[in-house]
Order: sequence, then structure tokens, then C-alpha cells
Amino acid sequence: MSTIKYMVCMMMLVGCSNPKNMIAERTTYNEPHRLQMHFSPKSKWMNDPNGMLYSNGVYHLFYQHYPDSNIWGPMHWGHATSKDLVHWEHQPIALYPDTLGYIFSGSAVLDVKNTSGFGKDGKVPLVAIFTHHNAKEEKTGTSTYQNQSIAYSLDEGKTWTKYAHNPVLKNPGIKDFRDPKVSWHEETKKWIMTLATLDRVSFFSSPDLKKWTKESEFGGNIGAHGGVWECPDLFPLDYNGKKIWVLLVSINPGGPNKGSATQYFTGEFDGTTFTPFQTDTRWIDYGPDNYAGITWFNTGNRKIFIGWMSNWLYANTVPTQAWRNAATVPRDLKITEIDGKFMVASTPVKELDVLNETVTTLQNVDVSNYDLSQKTGKIDGPWKLKIGVTKITDFSIIISNEQEEKIVVGYDKKRNIYFIDRSKSGIISFDKEFSATHVAPRISNKVSLDLTLIVDNSSIELFADDGLTAMTAVFFPNQLLSKIKIESPDNLVIQNIQFNRLNTIW
Ligand code: FRU
Repeated sequence: MSTIKYMVCMMMLVGCSNPKNMIAERTTYNEPHRLQMHFSPKSKWMNDPNGMLYSNGVYHLFYQHYPDSNIWGPMHWGHATSKDLVHWEHQPIALYPDTLGYIFSGSAVLDVKNTSGFGKDGKVPLVAIFTHHNAKEEKTGTSTYQNQSIAYSLDEGKTWTKYAHNPVLKNPGIKDFRDPKVSWHEETKKWIMTLATLDRVSFFSSPDLKKWTKESEFGGNIGAHGGVWECPDLFPLDYNGKKIWVLLVSINPGGPNKGSATQYFTGEFDGTTFTPFQTDTRWIDYGPDNYAGITWFNTGNRKIFIGWMSNWLYANTVPTQAWRNAATVPRDLKITEIDGKFMVASTPVKELDVLNETVTTLQNVDVSNYDLSQKTGKIDGPWKLKIGVTKITDFSIIISNEQEEKIVVGYDKKRNIYFIDRSKSGIISFDKEFSATHVAPRISNKVSLDLTLIVDNSSIELFADDGLTAMTAVFFPNQLLSKIKIESPDNLVIQNIQFNRLNTIW
């Protein structure tokens, strides 16, 4: 029912066949394609997640937001909070553009030691560090229109004051100079800013978040360079008592499946220099729709990642109206060792289990040609499927509707790849790059294989081999995809199948 008709019903309580039901009906978050268990803005444009921080039992999520249009424009920081990383409450916009420019991507920290001096009466300041992007200056042809600025909040992120002496880190003449991610480096007792500087990352340090000194650069001649480097993040992960530093770097274009994607490096960081362990290029997610992801500040040893579930190839043209674009599910990052190499694996956070509704479990199922819907019933919302097999061979999972629109996900043994084919997934004509089969290498060398799919109304996330291979893709069917079939040319028997319907978070 349209919002207008709902309001008319509410005001007049006449002309509605069943006013009681209508009052109960939700008028937002039930538009076609609206994700039911992922964060998306209530209305209008969203891109990168920003400033994620955990404080006093609350997870903050800020994000690139344009409240006046569903097309990218003057950037604000939208804001949402959650107590469980699953259910989100929208908050007023945190940062508005000003005379120094749009508010581009960045991070936020809890300044417990009050190094910034912004704290008052024992209140710990939340400090946001972001890029001021001056669109007017950009038009004049200078290269210094991106500078780093700060703002602070003394009321748990409700209101923000921009620092009077912004910017705190001036552009030295590098056109792409943005997306500061700041963390506290305990060993050297200073703040470290990881900044994207054109085709590499630059590290800066500061005692107080206001004065910044350049430490080093990394990446000019390693990793993928098909596009500009953006949204870096640097953090340690524990691996059996050893500290492995991970550097995330988003690049656009130049991703493994075209357009935007996020690569990562593992290595050592001593407070000055990042020294990589690897020479090869690796991706945190091989799918087309996980970009600009970074991790939460202040979650202890746990590193929780969330990405923007879109791609700059078509982010402005995907066929949603009320809002545009969303975030991936939050993911835990961890190190897995494969043949002496430290790899980063991502798995959906366990908090998402609160959404589990009915469950269907099956054992030893011959899936030569198997209609899983016969067991699950017609699907009418988000769901999760886990499968575990001990024989590794070709299989496809076909997720479809009555109109024969479908997403096909699976594993191809000959090429040792996972794939997601969205070429017949419904509305695809808005961009010529959208309709494609995306592939990802199988990284695990185990003789058994496990796969988890999280499928929402217009997104699919694949986590294979305990998250060693991850893929994310969006899709836009004309009708909900409500059926699941599994096929295997090789008489595959799946030892364990677990299917959960998931609740909506709204
Ligand atoms: C990445 C990005 C960032 C920039 C922001 C602008 O998607 O291009 O580099 O800060 O988006 O909205």
C-alpha cells in the first residue's frame, strides 16, 4: 500500500477495507528489492561505511550519504547505531558539508586519554577524522582540494563540533589524497593515520590527532593498480599469539571482476613502516559488490568489517528509487594459514544468528537434481543456507522465481573456482557490465568444502571454506526469488544441508 493511501486511511479511517490491518502495515522497508537484513538508508543515496566505532555498548555506523537525491552528490555523514550489529536505528545526520567542502570518507576514534584536549568534565571525546573535498576548488583545476579534517562529539555521537583550525593535514599537491583511517598504536603511543594517496598508501602519525607527521609510504609497486587507491585500513590480527598486520586497500576500477574491489596485504608494521609478507594480489571479497570496507574501532582483538554493497560501475543506476545502495553484513576477519601463507578469511558475525527463524536440516542428500524448495517451502524473505561436502566436485545452486529469473551459484572443479551468475537475474539493462558471471578462486586446499550463502531480497553473499573465499553480488529480480534447486552432474551427495529463514531487522 502506498504511504499516501496509508496516511489518508489514518486521517479519515474511511474507505479502507480493513483499517486495523492497514495501520499495522509497514510503509517503509517493504519496497521492491529492499534488503530486509542489511543496513540501508531509510531514503536516498548511500556509499562507503565511515567512522565505525564501538562505544558504551553501542556500535556506530556512519556512511557517505546524500540526503537530497538517490544519485551521488554533496557528501554528508549519515549515522546509524546498533546494540547488536544486526538491528540498526537511524540517527540524525552527523556531519554536513561546509565551506571547506563535502565530507568524504574517514574514520572515528575514542580518545580515551584525551590527547586531543577535546574532552571536558571527564567526558571521553569521540573524534572523527575525514576528508574535506572542496568541489569548487576541484573545478578550478588545482590538485589540493582534498584535505584531512577532524570533528568531535561529547554526547556519544549525537552532535558534532568541527575543529576550528581545520584542516589538520593539508594536501601537498596530490590530487587523490583521502579517506583517513586512524588507530592507536600502543607500542609507540601515537595515533597512526593510513591515507590513500593516489596509487599508494601513506602513513602519518600524531600525538594529539591535530599535528600529523609523515612516516612512510607503501604500495607504489606492489598489489593491484588498475585504478585509484581508496579507503585503506591497517590493523593487527592475532594468529596463535603472533601479530599479523593487515592492510586493506580499495581500488576503483581494477577489481578482479571489473570495477571496484578491496585488496589486502599481510605484513609487519612497526609504527613507521609496513613491510609486506606477500608479493601476490589478494582480495578480501572477489564478488562485484563489496567496496570501501573498513573495520570498527575499539572492538578489542576482534576485527569487524563492513563494506559498501555496490560497485562504482553502476551504483548510480541500480533500479531502486526510495533509497540507493546498502552495506554488506558485518563480517569477522581472521587469519588462516595456507601452505605457509597468511590469508585473511571473512565470516558473517555470529550476532546475525538472532535472525534465524525456522530451520530445515538434511543429511546425505543426493543432489544430482534436487528441489530443495520441496523441503523449505516457498521463500518469502531473507535466508541462509549452509552446506558441507566431503567430495569436491561441480555443483550449482539455482535460486529462481516463477518468471525463470535466477541467480546461479556454485563450484567448478576443473577451474577450481566458485561462481555467481546473475546474467538472468531480472532487471539487468541499467548497465552493460551488470549482467555477468563472476568468479573467485578456491583458496582452501582442504578435501572437504563448506559453503554459506546469505540471500536477501536483492543480494547474495557467499562464504566458502570458512570464509577463505568470499563473494558478494546484488541483483534485481522482477519478483522475489522464491525457489532453490541444487544440481550436480557428478551425483554429488551433500552430507549436511542447513536452511534457515531469517527475520527482517526493520
Ligand atoms: C570510495 C570513495 C572515497 C571517497 C568517497 C566519496 O567509494 O570514492 O574515496 O572518500 O567515496 O563519496
